[in-house]
Amino acid sequence: MTKQLQKLELTWIGKGIEPKIEPRIFIEDTAKSYGQDVTENMLIQGDNLLALKALEQNFTEKIKCIYIDPPYNTGNAFEHYDDGIEHSLWLSLMKPRLEILKNLLRNDGSIWISIDDDESHYLKVMCDEVFGRQNFVSNVIWEKKFSPQNDAKWLSDSHDHILVYAKKKEIWRPYLLPRTEAMDGRYKNLDNDRRGLWTSSDLTVKTYAAANDYPITLPSKRIVYPTKPRCWSVNENKFHELVVDKRIWFGENGDNMPRLKRFLSEVQEGSVSKTIWNRTEVGDNQEAKKEVKVFNEASVFGTPKPERLIEKILFLATRENDIVLDSFLGSGTTAAVTHKMNRRWIGIELGEHASTHCLPRLKKIIEGEDNGGITDEVSWKGGGGFKFYTLAPSLIQKDKYGSEIINPSYNPNMLAAAMAKQEGFRYDPHESSYWKQGFSSDKDFIFTTTQFITVQILDKLAEELKPGESLLVCCKSFAKGCIHRHNNITIKKIPQMLLGRCEFGKDDYSLNIVNLPHEEEKDIEVESVEISEQIKSSKSKKKKNGDDNQPSLFS
Ligand SMILES: C[S@@+](CC[C@H](N)C(=O)[O-])C[C@H]1O[C@@H](n2cnc3c(N)ncnc32)[C@H](O)[C@@H]1O
Repeated sequence: MTKQLQKLELTWIGKGIEPKIEPRIFIEDTAKSYGQDVTENMLIQGDNLLALKALEQNFTEKIKCIYIDPPYNTGNAFEHYDDGIEHSLWLSLMKPRLEILKNLLRNDGSIWISIDDDESHYLKVMCDEVFGRQNFVSNVIWEKKFSPQNDAKWLSDSHDHILVYAKKKEIWRPYLLPRTEAMDGRYKNLDNDRRGLWTSSDLTVKTYAAANDYPITLPSKRIVYPTKPRCWSVNENKFHELVVDKRIWFGENGDNMPRLKRFLSEVQEGSVSKTIWNRTEVGDNQEAKKEVKVFNEASVFGTPKPERLIEKILFLATRENDIVLDSFLGSGTTAAVTHKMNRRWIGIELGEHASTHCLPRLKKIIEGEDNGGITDEVSWKGGGGFKFYTLAPSLIQKDKYGSEIINPSYNPNMLAAAMAKQEGFRYDPHESSYWKQGFSSDKDFIFTTTQFITVQILDKLAEELKPGESLLVCCKSFAKGCIHRHNNITIKKIPQMLLGRCEFGKDDYSLNIVNLPHEEEKDIEVESVEISEQIKSSKSKKKKNGDDNQPSLFS
């Protein structure tokens, strides 16, 4: 029997069943958009799988940094979403989202994912598969809590993980962190050196080289050797040059082991980040709660992240004007911090708190009325704006006879925009040519209409096309003679041309795993059904607890 080789990967029930997501259009809710009209910032309320798919056309390889803080699957019911969901389902929900997120990242971009101990190791292995293990950068440990939980049954959990992946690690480099006062405070000028403040470092190294193992006579005349098995970091000639240049420090009495002076004026502009982030440096859960309380005191968001934590990520991963995306926006922290740091942002949030929490927070920031978080540190004074969007309903729905029809709620502009998106054209109606509704290149256009297209109409369009130009006409119906009438015009029927391409009419991607069972896979079927039952029962329990008006996880 030949042994089957399998690749190293994580498997789970439902893996490989990937939904074909409909690329929806966005609808601006002008009553909720705020601030300067000319803005690219987007606050999107809706399911992030559909929203990410909708962003794909315009934002593929445009995003410099993604931060996400997905529900952790801990089984706890938080106030603002239902977090009790089975592990396989959780992985199945995350994977297609991560795949689109990867497409959106620029080649020099990075993704940062907050996750707790329960799910982090599974997520790591799945991310290795999605982003490539060679693109894994670090697992940052964030100290989220200070006080120990003395009632913890086992150990008191005080950290979360932040998994960091680069789109292409060989070209991505983090920026240096700005130097802090504490760092500069370590520099003194004990010998009044004219080059200014300095600190000193050990002159020995671990990697042994015989040429760097020699006796040094201190100013006090004592002779010293490097501590075995180490040696000096420079050879004897270089050492004497450094002494002449007054770059060696032997202590106030000239009797200490030699140390190398490092001048503040000569150190690099910033510092490299470590992988352990303490709460004193980036804040903790308590700080985050205090920050968001002021934006909605009546209903304080349950699981926000502190602004300083996001600030550090953005310092390391972005520069002004870069686009930052958060598809699990929660109370809006990422958008808030990104805005104050003069980067552009896209935030997606499923729950009502897009309106009840993110909206007031961002409005205050634009008005310069938010005095919390990193406002003082970055000297934020207000300004900018954002547009508020929801997702259009599905383009196709079934009528009472079960036939697929164009959704009657689509007006002609929505239909034209949706068809342009479906066909990979940029929707951009021309000022004077009614039929130039969008383009895929400067010579290729799209025209969508609900009109019946006659041969005469088609000939008229052909007359208007310049040499080398081509047109795709999408219409409900057309006369027989239209097909192949003009080489540079393609004519197609909607909705027929779209059927089978993706899942229409589907707004809920939370339970796709439940549809998994096949006849022959009895074991899996039983397990899957159990999972679905667990989910249902966890949801109904929440309903009983009066939790039913909270948005549910991923749905
Ligand atoms: C842990 S919270 C994020 C908190 C956020 N980092 C902050 O600082 O406020 C996770 C958020 O993801 C949202 N969420 C869950 N499933 C979603 C989905 N399918 N689409 C969009 N948002 C979703 C939840 O409503 C919740 O607000």
